[in-house]
Amino acid sequence: MRPKLMALLLIGSVFPAALLAADPPWVARSRIGMVASDSPEASRIGADILAAGGNAFDAAVATSLALAVARPHSTGLGGGGFMLAYLAKEQRVVVLDFRETAPAGATADRFAKLQAQGGDGPSPSIYGGNAIGVPGQLAGLTEILKRFGSLPLKQLAQPALELAQTGFVADEHYLDACTAALADYEKWPQLKQRHARLYETLLGKGTPPKLGDRVKRPDLAEALRLIAKDGPDAFYQGPLGEAVARAAQAAGGTLTRGDLAAYRVREREPIRAVYRDSYEIVSMPPPSSGGVCIAETLNILDAVSLYTKRYFGPEQPHALVEAMKHAFADRARWLGDPDFADVPVKRLTDYNYAVQLARWIEAGKTLASSSYGGVAAPPDDGGTSHFCVADNNGNIVALTETINGPFGSLVVAEPYGIILNNQMDDFAANPGQPNLYGLIQGEANAVAPGKRPLSSMSPTLVFRVRDAKPVLVLGASGGPRIITSVVQVILNIVERRRPLDEAISAARFHHQWLPDEVYFDREPPRELADMLRENGHQISEQRKTSIVQAIQFLEDGTMVGASDPRKGGRPAAPPP
Ligand code: DON
Repeated sequence: MRPKLMALLLIGSVFPAALLAADPPWVARSRIGMVASDSPEASRIGADILAAGGNAFDAAVATSLALAVARPHSTGLGGGGFMLAYLAKEQRVVVLDFRETAPAGATADRFAKLQAQGGDGPSPSIYGGNAIGVPGQLAGLTEILKRFGSLPLKQLAQPALELAQTGFVADEHYLDACTAALADYEKWPQLKQRHARLYETLLGKGTPPKLGDRVKRPDLAEALRLIAKDGPDAFYQGPLGEAVARAAQAAGGTLTRGDLAAYRVREREPIRAVYRDSYEIVSMPPPSSGGVCIAETLNILDAVSLYTKRYFGPEQPHALVEAMKHAFADRARWLGDPDFADVPVKRLTDYNYAVQLARWIEAGKTLASSSYGGVAAPPDDGGTSHFCVADNNGNIVALTETINGPFGSLVVAEPYGIILNNQMDDFAANPGQPNLYGLIQGEANAVAPGKRPLSSMSPTLVFRVRDAKPVLVLGASGGPRIITSVVQVILNIVERRRPLDEAISAARFHHQWLPDEVYFDREPPRELADMLRENGHQISEQRKTSIVQAIQFLEDGTMVGASDPRKGGRPAAPPP
């Protein structure tokens, strides 16, 4: 017998099976509450709030403020987000949209004009003052607290404030984001003058912190102190807002204090789809494309299985790629802010529509890009953070928040260390040109004052149809890959019955209609890649990642929390 095998058998006889099959460190179990975020420090802060008697909404607010400190490249007060939550008492899902809006001065032709004046610098929808949408983050958090919370904002902001003072621990994901940002500062040296604050502080003038170093954020601590004292007024009516408008304008943008004062959170109706008669998927409606694309993709898969009986065969990944292509082609053509464009949500999420599309899907064949979505050629993970919270009363929160690209627009509202988003790039800012995430987008998502840019963020709940009980809450970061990773983790759980850690860590693929390529997050398994090629798909050499956080609800009452190992997060539970 080979020595390794021998050793394993020996260990197996000494240790119980449960110990051998121990959860990886990025998985936690509890029966009383759970926070799964992409930062160990933020998860712990949220779990402490649950332990102190706070509910899931209190914990979500504390976690989000902590993420603003510990994930400066992903989220913060300069961004926005979506919350999809389950109110246990009322057995109802509620959706809040605190996405950024275009400032009043951001007209449809503004980016075309700026491009024309252009020069060789980076795109104005990616870096600088024009990239910044009016932040909705704090308005969203305070709305969550006002309607569903039980503890004062002051108490929930305190742990984040302390973290900002003592410093968060720099991990690999953070250092990767610093390295990527510094590469752009080298590529366009003018950024060092234009966006000096970020360069000189978090980016260490070209020498970022080392792994494990503590990064203090005294300027943000001061912002949190003002928020703890004066609430959202400190931002939307007060000194923080003044600093945001000043920074945006000094960086060439139009954002004013008036834009901030006019900002409103919106409540929305979620998107619903039933998968294989067994699970109801409830997800984010426009201005996210997430819920529509997830529903459309799963409906198509369901219809393929019913009408072609091939679903369980080797063609399944091919059918999934085809379903993704249809959903993303429709995204490009039809989706945008529903307050500004007519978005045919009902038609796109109608099962009969999926049945029509499923008929196009054939083994061994993919179609030309122009055959998807009926649209004629139209005009990476970093800047987002998703977390899930569950409490012992059955409340569940899924919250995805974003500043869009890593470190957003690079513009910092001084002296408060607030990193401002570049969410304007999520509009079809330059018609016909791909955005930061390679997405081509249509007229429904053109820039207009006060409008919200189309998003892919997809906080999602899955209920068992049989007893209407929640079985899974999840969401992701990674631009359009959010949608396809949420779909694949759902399928891994409900279809393939894989444990949550495997469901999340498994290799994922992605197709977004254009570019007409399948992206994997790592070297794909040879057989899978060969099979997709045999079906006519191009496999990209590029690797594109997404990050999923989820909590699974087992029938025995256990909550299993998992933070995607790709980013280094850890879930946390209150002590038993
Ligand atoms: O709302 C959106 O779809 C994008 N702003 C999300 C960007 C993102 O996920 C970046 N990655 N971590």
